[in-house]
Amino acid sequence: MPATPLLSQLPSFEETQQLAKRLRDASVSTMLADDSDRAGDFTLTAAGLQLDYSKQLVDRPALASLFKLASEANLKSAISGLLAGEEVNNTEGRPALHTLLRANTGAGLENKYDAVTAARKTMRQWSERLNAGEHRGFSGAPITDVVNIGIGGSDLGPRLVSEALRPYQGNVACHYVANVDPADLQDTLLELNPDSTLFIVCSKSFRTEETLTNSLAARQWMKNAGAGDADLDKHFLAITSNLDAAAEFGISPANCLPMWDWVGGRYSVWSAIGLSCAIAVGWENFEAFLDGAAAMDDHFGEAPLAANMPVIMGLLEIWYTNFFGAGNHVVLPYDNSLQKLPDFLQQLTMESNGKNVARDGQPLDYPTGPVLWGAAGTMGQHSFHQLLHQGTELCPADFVLPLTTHTGMTEQHRRLVANCLAQSRTLMVGRSLEEAHQSLLARGIDAARAEALAPHLAMPGNRPNSVITMAALTPATLGALIALYEHRTFVSGVLWGINSFDQWGVELGKEIGGQVLSLLAGEDCDVAMDSATARLIGEWAAAQ
Ligand code: F6P
Repeated sequence: MPATPLLSQLPSFEETQQLAKRLRDASVSTMLADDSDRAGDFTLTAAGLQLDYSKQLVDRPALASLFKLASEANLKSAISGLLAGEEVNNTEGRPALHTLLRANTGAGLENKYDAVTAARKTMRQWSERLNAGEHRGFSGAPITDVVNIGIGGSDLGPRLVSEALRPYQGNVACHYVANVDPADLQDTLLELNPDSTLFIVCSKSFRTEETLTNSLAARQWMKNAGAGDADLDKHFLAITSNLDAAAEFGISPANCLPMWDWVGGRYSVWSAIGLSCAIAVGWENFEAFLDGAAAMDDHFGEAPLAANMPVIMGLLEIWYTNFFGAGNHVVLPYDNSLQKLPDFLQQLTMESNGKNVARDGQPLDYPTGPVLWGAAGTMGQHSFHQLLHQGTELCPADFVLPLTTHTGMTEQHRRLVANCLAQSRTLMVGRSLEEAHQSLLARGIDAARAEALAPHLAMPGNRPNSVITMAALTPATLGALIALYEHRTFVSGVLWGINSFDQWGVELGKEIGGQVLSLLAGEDCDVAMDSATARLIGEWAAAQ
């Protein structure tokens, strides 16, 4: 992928700035009222998802200008390059082929695709064997529980998918341990029996401190329960690209499923890293999940920019980050089973696009990667929505809404839908000072008090948001939803001119973590600590 010119140097940058300035005081409600085609025209369907962006603070000229910026940044060829396996991750000299993991053909990438299909076959075997109760532990008991030990991309994706697809749950329960805090592992193991538990050590590198520490403790737990060294293969699988380290840990090659350096951790739930999900929901459902993502990939690769869902979402991110100064983006899934979506998207977007230099290393003179946050509706309404409605911070929002529920409780679900649509509309319409005043008078409040209170009830409105809907949250629509956000992340990264597939910023903390650990263990460390850190280390030692 060639280095793209910086966003601020693209020919249409200034024109876009002018359009943004003009729209700052425009009213989205008025734009919707004045343009009877807007609601329909600013809605797009792809891969079982619908994106309604009609409540965004954009008009047709602004969108046209954003599409111009996208063309000037060579977005179309960047997309083709990503899908064709070009070396998009230039600092590590690799492609980023998460799309191949869910593809139904390996055109042009046959060798890698053969490896993918072989891994799928092994995943399927494990999923079917475990769900049929055919895999037994050291005491002869069938495995009933699987614990995925991993962190970051080796945890957040699988955790999200297993939780979101709980209505599709098979015979084996899946649990997730990530934190190096021993309480995470301890709390999980409290519920489990060693003889019916299987651990999946999920680590692309097999070097991650948290995962290795938890896996060693899990192995000890298994041994304490009476498992011998020869029994460990009945209880441990590894997903890794570092077979030597897995073997050193004691997991035989037959129990290792592959990962490849051409898949980034945060893009890896489609690979064997997603084995716990394939076990949780069964192979057919996992395949449907892959197919849903593949349908979004097809749309991303084929749809023109102006009708391309991830492209529009990425351009809206650029619009608010670079032309309105928004430093954050809020994702509000109105579905309890998508509670982990914001956590997953935090790693996806912030590890991918939290960068301050361009692909060629030159410093950027504009903001990138906004903070992503959120929580499942309706809980946020009773907590942070106050700030969304009346705060001084601009928080562009995505509502995510499955239109039906798996619970069978359709009347209660209707309330959830009503809340979602009401929040989306309220953010847009707000309430003028005069309306606030009138509503206070209508409540019987006296004129002086109504005048004093009105500014507190007034809401500016015009707070931009999209609504993403789907008929139901199924394996396929979940796959499409995750792929949608992956591609949105890529689009924004291309416009910002950055490499969205490395994460050098996490390394120094790991290095210093090792130095501090040596000091806590009373060992020598050849790096002197600053006085603040040294004092806290001393405080820790005194507390032991
Ligand atoms: O430290 C960040 C990171 O490298 C993530 O990018 C990755 O998803 C996570 O750690 C886990 O890495 P691994 O799968 O190699 O254990």
